[in-house]
Amino acid sequence: MTAERAPEIDIHTTAGKLADLERRRDEAAHAGSARAVERQHAKGKMTARERVYALLDEDSFVEFDAMARHRSTSFGLDRERPYGDGVVTGHGTVDGRPVAVFAQDFTVFGGSLGEVFGEKIVKVMDHALKTGCPVVGINDSGGARIQEGVVSLGLYAEIFKRNVHASGVIPQISLIMGPCAGGAVYSPALTDFVLMVREKSHMFITGPDVIRTVTGEEVTFEELGGAHAHGSRSGVAHYEAADEEDCLEYARALLSHLPSNNLDDAPVYAADTPMEVTNEDLDLDTLIPDSANKPYDMRSVVEHVLDDGEFLEVHAGFAPNIVVGFGRVDGRSVGVVANQPLSFAGTLDIAASEKAARFVRTCDAFNIPVLTFVDVPGFLPGTDQEWNGIIRRGAKLLYAYAEATVPLVTVITRKAYGGAYDVMGSKHLGADVNLAWPTAQIAVMGAQGAVNILYRRELAAAEDPEAARAMYVREYEDTLANPYLAAERGYVDAVIRPSETRVQIVRALRSLRDKRAALPPKKHGNIPL
Ligand code: HXC
Repeated sequence: MTAERAPEIDIHTTAGKLADLERRRDEAAHAGSARAVERQHAKGKMTARERVYALLDEDSFVEFDAMARHRSTSFGLDRERPYGDGVVTGHGTVDGRPVAVFAQDFTVFGGSLGEVFGEKIVKVMDHALKTGCPVVGINDSGGARIQEGVVSLGLYAEIFKRNVHASGVIPQISLIMGPCAGGAVYSPALTDFVLMVREKSHMFITGPDVIRTVTGEEVTFEELGGAHAHGSRSGVAHYEAADEEDCLEYARALLSHLPSNNLDDAPVYAADTPMEVTNEDLDLDTLIPDSANKPYDMRSVVEHVLDDGEFLEVHAGFAPNIVVGFGRVDGRSVGVVANQPLSFAGTLDIAASEKAARFVRTCDAFNIPVLTFVDVPGFLPGTDQEWNGIIRRGAKLLYAYAEATVPLVTVITRKAYGGAYDVMGSKHLGADVNLAWPTAQIAVMGAQGAVNILYRRELAAAEDPEAARAMYVREYEDTLANPYLAAERGYVDAVIRPSETRVQIVRALRSLRDKRAALPPKKHGNIPL
């Protein structure tokens, strides 16, 4: 594509100048060749512009720098100077709220990032930071533009710096809709949410060819860095979308739960909140099995508490032993963190701790109250966990709760044992309202483990060790494995019927709406990384 003027346009007249503008606009809107667009569609992928239009409210897109062009002359680049330079940037609205956006255009230079391309992203990020609106970045790129050398690397770093400076100020969401390789992965990695599309997107530092050469491992693109790999194994991706529409829809849903910036509140929706126990609430009174070893689905508790039972789960495929996501209570956004007894009995391991820590910090940065549902038998034992740093990495969750100043409401449904009791939004770390169900067992450890330690000698000497064990277990459970010792000390504010949970949470959040809390002044904390 070139900006050569068509001969029939006389740019010395006003009409000709206007026609010239329209021709240039048209060229900018069709910067990728027809063949490249066809190839893009054949892969089941939208073009950059189609994605921007699908993300934003109709007719809301305002483009920046549609006529920006690269200034490079090496490797024949001077013969090809398409408008836009391979990235579409600007702003528009989602549900009527301003959002800045950039979409890498794979149909132009493979979406590769050169100087002007990078400058355009920098500009739109600066605009978002200045005006306090979220940035959605749509990634589909061959990475650093090889012909432009170090200049592209410099621009990547300019973007990384802005990602970091914007972190905790404006929400940043990355949609990966094509290749995203090498150091380029670090811009999405620095943002709040990374969404990937199954079979269409890949993220990796080094690709399958390099891996085969260096380590001899054989791995496909999808196995190595596809949506499923990052949504379930590495935890890099917060959402594994079925297709591009699903991915864009999830981004819109996320935005609906987030404020535009850290000084703002998330949007409030009209809600008709019943303030008495409803028939649905009563379901919770029979949820907890009589046997403490039997699992149940904590998602059911979460859905009973949220408006219309709507829960936007985040990181659903990663560390399923803890569930995190957004919902609304009384029309207002809340973040939910919940142990999941259906997976590893809800134990905390490294992945679960990091997943939840990240989520709590995201909520805290953006003024979203955190609801915590606790049923945790403790940290997962094992050399794998110890040697991979459960001490250092588990500490992140504790750190995240202790530094959070948003309203924190915690409900203990069943087990809250040992260090995990402290970690999971305990009163002692700073939770504002702590509730427990009568089925709660708040203790240093479960009855079996405790009896083995406390009564080792008595059990060894007993004529009928099993009968003795049963007696000691019963005694322990009756004395310690309940919520009442904690309630006596005010560590839980109330022991409630499960069916009262929703109403109690509404009341708690209403009372905490104007919560003010501050940490000691400091440059920044030193979270264990
Ligand atoms: C310049 C590039 C390019 C790049 C692709 N293209 N990547 N041009 N710089 N990095 C061009 C191709 O030459 C081609 O141009 C067009 O884009 C489409 O690419 P294809 O290869 O035809 O597409 P496809 O077969 O779908 O393969 C996509 C791909 C492959 C897997 C991404 O293009 C690829 O491997 N590209 C190089 C990836 C890479 O190594 N990038 C550097 C990574 S390091 P024509 O004119 O033929 O249409 C990096 C560092 C970042 O990015 C550092 C940050 C700190």
